[in-house]
Amino acid sequence: MLAGKKILLGITGSIAAYKSILLVRLLVKAGAEVRVIITPGAKDFVPPLVLSTLSGNKVLVDLFDEDSWSNHVMLGRWADVMLIAPLSCNTLAKMANGQCDNLLLAVYLSATCPVIAAPAMDEDMWRHPATRANILKLEGYSNHVINVGTGELASGLVGEGRMAEPEQILQYLTNQFFRGTALRGKRAVVTAGPTYEAIDPVRFIGNHSSGKMGFAIAEALYRQGAEVHLIAGPVKLAHIAGVKRTDVTSAGQMHSAAREAFKDADIAVMSAAVADYTPVEVAAEKIKKTDGGLTLNLHKTRDILKSLGEVKANGQLLVGFALETNNEKENALQKLKQKNADLIVLNSLRDSNAGFGYDTNKVTIFDKEGNTFETGLLSKQQVAEEIVQIIIQKLHAKTI
Ligand code: CTP
Repeated sequence: MLAGKKILLGITGSIAAYKSILLVRLLVKAGAEVRVIITPGAKDFVPPLVLSTLSGNKVLVDLFDEDSWSNHVMLGRWADVMLIAPLSCNTLAKMANGQCDNLLLAVYLSATCPVIAAPAMDEDMWRHPATRANILKLEGYSNHVINVGTGELASGLVGEGRMAEPEQILQYLTNQFFRGTALRGKRAVVTAGPTYEAIDPVRFIGNHSSGKMGFAIAEALYRQGAEVHLIAGPVKLAHIAGVKRTDVTSAGQMHSAAREAFKDADIAVMSAAVADYTPVEVAAEKIKKTDGGLTLNLHKTRDILKSLGEVKANGQLLVGFALETNNEKENALQKLKQKNADLIVLNSLRDSNAGFGYDTNKVTIFDKEGNTFETGLLSKQQVAEEIVQIIIQKLHAKTI
């Protein structure tokens, strides 16, 4: 995700500095080359040895060490981005006012690369007018500030001021900063999650889909430069920055939203677990229990994937999913054909740790030309990356 990117990570004296250890790991794992500068005050919070071991580079603290002078100008020029996380209230104030009493500040002042800061402080400090003014100053210098989170603070109080989590910082870098261009100018629509079909005002027919796979695909498409519209059933997942999201409840609502969004889309990925049946009538009042059983009268919902397949124009790429427990390949290929999709992603419920609710997945992808692609058991994010790579290949090969 960050292959070959050069990241200069500045760490300042804040309790949140312990999170920077994980941040270095995540950045290195994502393929970035990381060099770390810490302020003298940060040494008390995070051991340089850990940071140098994880980054694979010597950690820089002072302008001068025993026998050398750190070339702060070249450091700022080496980096693709300077990331300061955590940014303490003190360093923020110094940056805002151009002070230069340590290496980190010298590098900041001479950096020609973009600068991103993830502040961390107590809520009262965060809300102080001086801090507000300093943040505005930083933004006025075209530095980027990652919003603080709300939660438990070092003081024991609960409030605003927590440094963004390392995963969120990585997401900010990959999604906002180093966004790819392979799908720039393309519009994508993605359905995700379950649908709920109302029985009465308090009950519904639903399923266990978490929506994680569809959200990961929406994010991976966005990361490659596409403009993404995510149509989500009832899920407990956070908004993806930059992705347009429409929340729906029922299969009927999802169908209308998807048909509308498909009109000017280049790519459609239907990963939602849409209910196949819905009650013929929704009871206006809560259905009361009686001595006998209860028979629900259901009729079929509209198949969204199929209905998009019917109106698909040349150049539109349609991707469906198939969730199977038996005769997986035959059923998946049948869905590919019957629904006029270009790709079908087979999820087999026989694979352990894959599918509904898990953070990992393993899929087989079939195309119309008879090719098969298999992923191993990967995180849903990695599976999404692989699916999106195939989408990119198909669009570029113009086989649709
Ligand atoms: N799908 C859809 N609308 C429906 C039902 C399914 O768009 N009403 C889509 C799903 O989003 C998925 C694909 O169709 O992309 C296959 O879904 P799946 O549940 O595996 O199969 P069904 O077509 O519903 O058939 P069955 O349940 O009999 O396997």
